[in-house]
Amino acid sequence: MKKILGLIASKRNLANGEIIAKEVAAAAGDHCQLEIVRLAELKLELCRGCYVCLAPDKQCPVNDDLYFLLEKMRTADGIILAAPCYALGPAAVTKVLSDRIIALAQYIDDLWGKPCVVIATAGIEGWEGYTLSALNAMIRFIGLDLKDSRMFLGALPGDGILREGALTRAGEMGQALFGKARQSGIGECPVCWSEIWKFPEPATAVCSICGQTASLVAGEKEIQWVYGVSSGRFEKENLKAHFHGWLSGKVQEFMTRRKELAAVRNCYK
Ligand SMILES: Cc1cc2nc3c(=O)[nH]c(=O)nc-3n(C[C@H](O)[C@H](O)[C@H](O)COP(=O)(O)O)c2cc1C
Repeated sequence: MKKILGLIASKRNLANGEIIAKEVAAAAGDHCQLEIVRLAELKLELCRGCYVCLAPDKQCPVNDDLYFLLEKMRTADGIILAAPCYALGPAAVTKVLSDRIIALAQYIDDLWGKPCVVIATAGIEGWEGYTLSALNAMIRFIGLDLKDSRMFLGALPGDGILREGALTRAGEMGQALFGKARQSGIGECPVCWSEIWKFPEPATAVCSICGQTASLVAGEKEIQWVYGVSSGRFEKENLKAHFHGWLSGKVQEFMTRRKELAAVRNCYK
């Protein structure tokens, strides 16, 4: 029996995201059991930026449900995250959770490679904003193996699964969870699937999430995107180098410079 953890970000009872998550889990196979955790029912506090969680053998000092949730994630075989689009981005609880990234990243060895699919729900076509890109980034940052992620439309609760093709797409996502990951789509970064690009110079594009670069070259009929070498931002070794190494170095630097920095800060009391 495989354990699937369904993380539901909506506060709505039987929300579109929850219904689609249940269809995805059903399509993952008879050998799967779904446990739902509603993020909005947990006590999840804001990150204090204290970096205590970086110290060996220490945990985040905030007394909330972060480690309860982490344990659920560690013991799951696969994870489904479902979040609604609010004000063009994912519902705030997902950001509160992803802001605890430094504490979570200390457990990257436990979470690394765990399969995950992401369901985003939105009410209006064209108003989905940066929802899916942000959710994808959150999942990759904590080291999960993002197998599929899709946007589902439907403003009214229950409407999302009724839309044309929704059941089929939920089924495909269920198959992907413990199967083959989908490919990046048109307009998505080939590395992290973000749809958000910067154009710092003419004919140059940079993925806002993972830093993947592309040269835009005029072809015979259309512009060709010629991708540079990936920065590997979401590779395990690079995540570890940042969340364990670089940040710990900054904490050490702070210890040696704390008097100097306190003097600067005191001027702004
Ligand atoms: C506060 C609020 C803000 C919303 N903002 C957007 C939005 O920016 N774009 C959009 O397409 N839908 C927006 N919606 C609609 C929801 O995304 C939509 O109803 C979705 O189906 C909710 O998913 P759920 O049923 O899983 O909670 C918003 C809904 C609420 C309550």
